[in-house]
Parts: sequence; C-alpha cells; structure tokens
Amino acid sequence: MKEKNCNETFDRLPRRRKDVLELFLQGKTDAEIEKLLYITQATVRKHIGNICSDFGLSEEFSYDRSSKRPALMALFAKYKPELMQGNSAVTADSTVSSSSVDWGEAPEVEEFYDRTEELATLKQWLLEKQCRLVVVWGMAGIGKTALAVMLADEIQSQFDCFIWRSLQYAPALPDLLADIIQFLSPTPNLELPDSVSDRTSKLMGLLQNHRCLIVLDNVETVLPEGHRDDGEYGDFLRRVGRERHRSCVLLNSREKPGAVTLVERETRRVKSLQLEGLKEAAREIFREEGLTDEADWNELINHYRGNPHILRLVAWHVKELCGGRVSKFLDLGTTLLNDELTTLLSQQFDRLSPLEKQIVAVLMQTNGAVSLERVRDRIQPPSSSELMQALTVLKDRSLVEQVPTGDDVQFSLPPLIRRFASQHCPLTE
Ligand SMILES: Nc1ncnc2c1ncn2[C@@H]1O[C@H](COP(=O)(O)OP(=O)(O)O)[C@@H](O)[C@H]1O
Ligand SMILES: [Mg+2]
Repeated sequence: MKEKNCNETFDRLPRRRKDVLELFLQGKTDAEIEKLLYITQATVRKHIGNICSDFGLSEEFSYDRSSKRPALMALFAKYKPELMQGNSAVTADSTVSSSSVDWGEAPEVEEFYDRTEELATLKQWLLEKQCRLVVVWGMAGIGKTALAVMLADEIQSQFDCFIWRSLQYAPALPDLLADIIQFLSPTPNLELPDSVSDRTSKLMGLLQNHRCLIVLDNVETVLPEGHRDDGEYGDFLRRVGRERHRSCVLLNSREKPGAVTLVERETRRVKSLQLEGLKEAAREIFREEGLTDEADWNELINHYRGNPHILRLVAWHVKELCGGRVSKFLDLGTTLLNDELTTLLSQQFDRLSPLEKQIVAVLMQTNGAVSLERVRDRIQPPSSSELMQALTVLKDRSLVEQVPTGDDVQFSLPPLIRRFASQHCPLTE
C-alpha cells in the first residue's frame, strides 16, 4: 500500500477501529485493549482483523492463514511511526519485532466465567517457571479449549510467536511438524527432512531460537487406546519436555498423555492440570439463559458436575420443556442424555479396556457406592494392582467417582454415566 492510500484509509476508519489500532500500534496487548476500551478480547481480534482488511493486508497475504499483525505493524512503522510511540517492539531503525501469531482453528469464546485459579496457575507455569510442556486435561465439555483461548489471549504477546492447532482430525505427526516448522520459519519451498525424528530435531532447533507458545488442542485424538504408550506423538512430547529450549507447548486433552506422566516425574518444567467442573460460576450460565427457581440451581449443577457444555444443553432443555423452571425440570427426575452426549460418551467408552468396562457394569448394578472388595469379588480381576490401575483410569476420565465413607474407599458412577451405562454398557463382556 502506498503512503497516500495508507493515510486516507487511516482517516476514514470508524472511530472504534481507530481506537483499537492506535492502542495496538502502541504495543498494547489484546488484554490491555480489552480493559482500556471495555470490549472483549474477541472483539479486539475482530477489529484488528477488519483493520487488516481495510489496509489490504488480508488480500496481500491471502496465501497463508498466519496473522497479518506483523505486516500491520510494519506498514505503520514505515508511514506513520509517530503512532508507535511507547511500543518497545519497535527498535530505533523502525524495524518491527518478528512476532507472529496464528490462531488456527481456535474458537471465539464469548461467555467465560471464573477459572481465576486455573488461569493464575497456568500463567505461573508458562511465564514464571518457563515450563516446556504443559497439559490441561479433563472430560469433554469441561472447558479446556475455552480456558486455553483465554490464557493465550492474555499471554501470547509475551512470546515471540504463537500458534494454535487443533488435532481434531488426528493429523499425522510429520504433517503437523511440517506445518509448525513452516510457520516458524516461513521460507518458500522449505526443504524438510523426511524422517520424523529429523523433523522433530528441526523444530526443536526453532524452539531454542525463538520463544514460542504452541497450543495443541484435542490431543486425545492422537493418543492410542490402551493409554500406556503414546506412539510417535509420545516420542515427540517426550523430546519437547526433556530437551533444552525456550518455548512452551500447551496441550489440551481428554486423557493425560502417558508421555507427560513420565517426563513430569523427571523435571519441574513439565506440568499437568486436571480441569474440573465449574463451581459457583456455573450459576452464571443459568442466569445468562434466564432460568428461574434459583434455590434449585445448585442441585442441577451438581447433577452434571459443573460441566459447562452439558449445563448449557440442560439449560436449553429446561427452557424448552419447563418454561425455564428448574424445579419443574428436577421433578421430572430425569438425567439428560441426548444424541450428542451419547456420542461423546460412546467415544470415551470405546477406549476403555474390558476390565474397565466390567467395573462400570458392576457399579451400574448397584444404586449407591460400592466398596473395593465388593468390586473385586464381583469381577475377579487378574490382580489387585490391575484393578487399582483400572479404577484410576476410570476416575481420571471422570467416569467413576470415589466416595468418602469413613475409613473405607467406595466407588460410584456420576448420574450421567449411570444413565449412559444402563443403556449402552453390556453387563458382561
Ligand atoms: N469458564 C467458562 N464459563 C462459561 N462457559 C464456559 C466456560 N468454559 C467453557 N465454557 C463453555 O462450555 C462449552 C465447552 O467448553 P470447551 O472449552 O469447548 O470444552 P472442552 O474443550 O473441554 O471440550 C463451550 O460452549 C464453552 O464456551
Ligand atoms: Mg475442546
């Protein structure tokens, strides 16, 4: 774009867009702009996307999906450097930092409540402790993706580069490595080594030279069943966790990868966080949906263990079936299990071992909690340690809960799992 066009476009920008642009050029992060202009970070991102289109950057760089932000900075460094005062990324000769950002398939998060503690912990791990590998793991719908979006929004500006990739369609590792390498060192016709280990080495080199934040969402799709060995991704994750570099790979997964469990014991720079349901903040979801009978909300929230995705579905049903009255919905005495939840839970059940499925079947047959001895008598596992291991897997996947009963350890199924198991889990294998 020529200087004259740039000036004209700048003068014609709508006021809000101009406000966002000026703060962006001063080097403010999305989080800072959010606070200064009282808009969400998603809106900040939308404004910046629009501004890039206004200045013709979207067409100019339409061949790649990477961020146009560095190009926007560069444009103003050239024609309007006076707007960039206070921007520490701009050096004396007005060249712009090499920061690049690629949000990939990350979703917009519109409503987000609480998670203050989790955000503080993750920020400490990523920024202060400079962890190399961090996994956030927990049940589907518990809020892993939303949490990572909020976290990355806040901290990505503290990294040289940021990339988000979803592994939802289980990409082969060499393809994923090629994608990330290409992003970090954008060279036309980049020659990549063929072998996975050489490709990984190439990426490790880049992670040493730049401080990058890489978010990999939906990692469970690339973990093989049986949860012992993580295959080729396991090798990759072990290297990211063990080798020396300045970057951080943040994983979201329904299951904790075995590689993380292993390396976590060896170094403080690998960490894992199990994400649990929302507590008090879950009420905001019901409030937002306009439900009534506030006194009964906690019962319904607890019934679904604070899972925000399920609570949104439930809220929708309460509105449709009971005019928004939670007490009326509770009176129905039903546990919501629609097609979507059935599919989600089936995916989880399909990954269980025969022994794990057997335990669920035994727990389903009893209404209350069941002691460890009773479970053992009923299924006669190959050994006690195998039984304990199977129960740990089930607890980790939020399929079985441990109930505190004095000195004894008892186990039971959460209501949703009980409902699912009664319909889909055969009593004997
Ligand atoms: N803290 C939160 N406050 C409000 N809604 C949330 C929160 N966390 C997640 N959600 C919503 O719940 C749904 C599932 O969240 P998501 O992050 O996709 O879960 P996961 O990645 O664990 O499967 C989404 O609609 C999301 O917007
Ligand atoms: Mg997700």
